[in-house]
Amino acid sequence: MKVAVVYESRTGNTAHVAEMIGAAVQELGHEVGIWPTEKANLDYLTDADMVFVGTWTGGIIVTGHHPGDGGKLLAMPGIWGKPTAGFMTYALHAGKVLDKMSDIVTLLGGEWLGGRLFKRGKLEEGLASFVVAAIDAAEESLGVAG
Ligand SMILES: Cc1cc2nc3c(=O)[nH]c(=O)nc-3n(C[C@H](O)[C@H](O)[C@H](O)COP(=O)(O)O)c2cc1C
Repeated sequence: MKVAVVYESRTGNTAHVAEMIGAAVQELGHEVGIWPTEKANLDYLTDADMVFVGTWTGGIIVTGHHPGDGGKLLAMPGIWGKPTAGFMTYALHAGKVLDKMSDIVTLLGGEWLGGRLFKRGKLEEGLASFVVAAIDAAEESLGVAG
């Protein structure tokens, strides 16, 4: 598959997770492109079979959790009709922020495959299994053999 990883990051945590996801996707034998949303390669995105979308968690720690820079994500083209997995980083509490990420992906016309939270300081935890599950779900959705 051709896979795109698109993200927002202010202090580098989500960018780091994006790079690790990209490396895991490549190890599984897929083609991958990784960009911050504003720099996303539109030709590549248009051709991509599946997308990973990531950002950080905003809020006031205990409440008000939302996808950071969600407006920039909402301005992103290229997800329409594509299986899409979400990934988000956070510091302490992220609440139900993945539900809001799912809303953004759905508004963009993507098919929400599910998502995962990555805690600052333990960013690699659960990453490999998340990527395998997301790729499997995308292949199933697209009807291609894994
Ligand atoms: C304005 C602002 C609000 C934040 N609110 C929360 C929060 O409510 N809960 C939380 O766990 N982390 C919160 N964080 C921490 C970030 O989500 C976390 O550090 C994230 O990994 C940053 O990602 P980045 O390095 O890709 O920018 C907040 C960060 C900022 C800048």
